[in-house]
Amino acid sequence: MLEVRNLTVRHGYLQAVTNVNLALAAGETVAIIGANGAGKSTLLRSIAGLHRPHAGDISFDGRPITRLASHARVRQGLVLVPEGRRLFPSLSVEENLRIGTTSGRPGSWDLRRVFHLFPWMEARRREPTVHLSGGEQQAVALGRALMANPRVLLLDELSLGLAPTMVRRIYGVLPELVRDGIGVLLVEQDVGQALRVADRFQCLLEGRTTLEGRPREATPAAVEAAYFGRSGRAGPPGAP
Ligand SMILES: Nc1ncnc2c1ncn2[C@@H]1O[C@H](COP(=O)(O)OP(=O)(O)OP(=O)(O)O)[C@@H](O)[C@H]1O
Ligand SMILES: [Mg+2]
Repeated sequence: MLEVRNLTVRHGYLQAVTNVNLALAAGETVAIIGANGAGKSTLLRSIAGLHRPHAGDISFDGRPITRLASHARVRQGLVLVPEGRRLFPSLSVEENLRIGTTSGRPGSWDLRRVFHLFPWMEARRREPTVHLSGGEQQAVALGRALMANPRVLLLDELSLGLAPTMVRRIYGVLPELVRDGIGVLLVEQDVGQALRVADRFQCLLEGRTTLEGRPREATPAAVEAAYFGRSGRAGPPGAP
């Protein structure tokens, strides 16, 4: 459904993503893992249309979208939950959720279904989101994205700053989304969490893919080496 070929993205002189390839099918969950500054958000934001790639192609349903504006990608069902949530703090839960409908995409997701997914939200729908805990805010950010009736969800660090129970709770809704056929491309620094929920994963190091595969097939040592860039050979750090 979503395909990224040889994507290279620069921020000025800095090349944040180099030659990355990835594919995501309907109902599939793919995790991008990597350390701080590995290029995970840049990759996700490029797919969402928020960075213009230096080279490479992105296609959706076999059609190129590389040059499409971000709002046009949302209209096709490619929806980002940005790092840091980016809610409107003074607006209510419901007002933030309704922002997701501005794309005008038809589908089964509406306020009722979001409240069904997160039952606590309905009673607090009139509260400004600034009053919510981090985990609750993250749920609203996810709900807002669902209101756009996504076919692909791009999730940037859902777990950031959340207690482990909150992380489990928010990731607990993923199976329902996957059953709906939504493709999920998620970025996580929390490697354990990412590998628990993903069908496949890809590890980035300084913008390049250093390892990819299925979580069950990857040894912790291989993941660690890909994550930190250790060669696995004997010799001083940084030796060629
Ligand atoms: N808008 C920008 N302008 C300039 N440099 C940027 C910009 N955004 C990111 N960078 C740089 O690009 C590199 C990749 O950043 P990116 O945010 O994609 O990494 P990340 O893997 O998401 O990191 P984190 O885990 O901290 O969120 C970093 O060196 C970062 O400083
Ligand atoms: Mg990031």
